[in-house]
Amino acid sequence: MKILISAGPTREWIDPVRYISNPATGRLGYLLAEEAVRRGHEAVLVCGPTGLENPAGVKVVRVETARQMETALRRHFPDCQALFMTAAVGDWRPRFRRTKLKCKRKFSLTLFPNPDILAGCGRLKKNGQTLIGCALETNNLVEAGRAKLRRKNLDFILVNEPGFFGKEKGRHQSFLLSRRGEVYDLSNRSKEDISRFLYDRCLLTCSNPS
Ligand code: CTP
Repeated sequence: MKILISAGPTREWIDPVRYISNPATGRLGYLLAEEAVRRGHEAVLVCGPTGLENPAGVKVVRVETARQMETALRRHFPDCQALFMTAAVGDWRPRFRRTKLKCKRKFSLTLFPNPDILAGCGRLKKNGQTLIGCALETNNLVEAGRAKLRRKNLDFILVNEPGFFGKEKGRHQSFLLSRRGEVYDLSNRSKEDISRFLYDRCLLTCSNPS
């Protein structure tokens, strides 16, 4: 199978010396790419800026902005059997200024919406393709995750508390929800464990499209 994975943050430049981003480490996506190779699949990893080394045996496509990530994913999506969308895609971007903004006491920045990459893939999805999204939620994780799963036409969604992607250790709530209504409690499990669990649960639907 060809497994497509997105990982890491995106970066939206304000001017040549400043950008807007988020603290995603990309680690879950990298673990998923490594697990794909271990299971004998072809893995393509589209990742934003991370400090992680390219995993062996994985085709890595490095991008910076949400729109670059969308272009790279759209290129590989049509012939993949599963997309794990773990990237923390920036929801907005500023207008890029070619010359450095001079320091001011106060100024406002207008932000424009980025495309929802996963929802776009949800619209293009064909039989035999499995879409797995991730979500960060501070309240009502399961209800909020269910709503996102439906809105983006996903097969599964992994819902986490924000701390999950920032810190490596510690307690966190985490649930995998399926389109069929199953809820798996993965709270406090390691990312290694979660990445194996995702393959065991989610890829069954790849070989049995229903
Ligand atoms: N996602 C995406 N494109 C975006 C925003 C999010 O593809 N512009 C994907 C993420 O990679 C993730 C899923 O959508 O797999 C849910 O992301 P999340 O940030 O939790 O949800 P949003 O759709 O951005 O909604 P909100 O921030 O309002 O909760």
